[in-house]
Amino acid sequence: MQFLFYFFVTFFIFVFIFIFVNSRRRSIPAMATKMATVVAGNLALAPAANRISCYSSTFKPPSSIGNSHFYRNFAAKIRASSVTAAVETTPATDVNENEAKAKKQVLACPICYDTLIWNGDPVFSVDSTPRSILKCSNCKKAYGGNGTHLDLTVASGSKKYGENMPASSEVFRLPLVSFLYERGWRQGFSLWGGFPGPEKEFDMMKDYLKPIVGGSIIDASCASGMFSRIFAKSGLFSLVVALDFSESMLKQCYDFIKQEENISKENLILVRADIARLPFASSSIDAVHAGAALHCWPSPSAGVAEISRILRPGGVFVATTFILDGPYSFIPFMSPIRQSIGQISGSRVYLSERELKDLCSTCGLVDYTCVRNRRFVMISARKPT
Ligand SMILES: C[S@@+](CC[C@H](N)C(=O)[O-])C[C@H]1O[C@@H](n2cnc3c(N)ncnc32)[C@H](O)[C@@H]1O
Repeated sequence: MQFLFYFFVTFFIFVFIFIFVNSRRRSIPAMATKMATVVAGNLALAPAANRISCYSSTFKPPSSIGNSHFYRNFAAKIRASSVTAAVETTPATDVNENEAKAKKQVLACPICYDTLIWNGDPVFSVDSTPRSILKCSNCKKAYGGNGTHLDLTVASGSKKYGENMPASSEVFRLPLVSFLYERGWRQGFSLWGGFPGPEKEFDMMKDYLKPIVGGSIIDASCASGMFSRIFAKSGLFSLVVALDFSESMLKQCYDFIKQEENISKENLILVRADIARLPFASSSIDAVHAGAALHCWPSPSAGVAEISRILRPGGVFVATTFILDGPYSFIPFMSPIRQSIGQISGSRVYLSERELKDLCSTCGLVDYTCVRNRRFVMISARKPT
């Protein structure tokens, strides 16, 4: 009797298992395949994903590039690839749009330095930016393009109010001067000033720019964009901003860019702004170049202070100008002559090497260097890290 009881219990258990297994038969291979895929997938991807996410969270770049856009883009790409490896859903266009968005966040309202909200194309380029409208998130002022460049001066859009700069700035707003600038005017600097010429000057400044390669650069007081075009063609920078106060220089700059075929129109923008009121967020830019311009600015200290504000820690300032010392400092009555010329022209005329060094350090820049050739001088300084 007892035997029969155990026999039936065992029999029913087997029948129950048989029915259960049969009912799941079709889904078991699918589950097994899925589990195998997940396990295999995880085995294959996990080390890579782990390695990638571990790099992106623990990789500490050298301080010189730690804050550069190059590093930020690099880190962002690594993060993006680790996400792609795990989920495989982030389309490339999203990554590009995020990069474009990040670049646009460097632009700021020249009145309150707050973020500008952008309604234009997602792409940052010579053609799209002049068609965009930007609105300050704080004061709500709208800034627009005029077909060749974005006007980010404080007085942009004013209907009645007009403002004149000192003669040293105004002269470059004349269309004739803009036309002549690269057609003889600039070449004159080599003859009587000892300027080596654009290609050599770019070669010289490359050493200073090494730590920020891959980052953003502003060609401040770019005139017709001689250096902006060299920077864009070099492929060394993620963003090139050609900036000047003169509308006619920017128009000439736009025309030259349009005429050149081997120049990428992306990640290159033309901006009208005053050097003493730069429309960029603080600590957002990797490098500022100001070629043959310091002596034209109404207040070099206001300009260099602004450059210092927008440079990120470790960011580089490199400039060329005419220097006034050596034999020139022995000219009798030099100081009063300089003062009078300065008052008439509205600029500081030429500075001495000691004045240039002092100017950089009073504006918070360090590691000043200086290379000279006759009256030409190339200086560089860095924002402390
Ligand atoms: C001699 S050009 C220098 C051009 C060029 N960077 C080069 O290396 O040949 C001086 C430029 O400074 C610009 N400039 C003068 N005052 C300015 C200001 N307040 N803000 C921005 N740019 C200014 C002028 O419009 C002019 O294009």
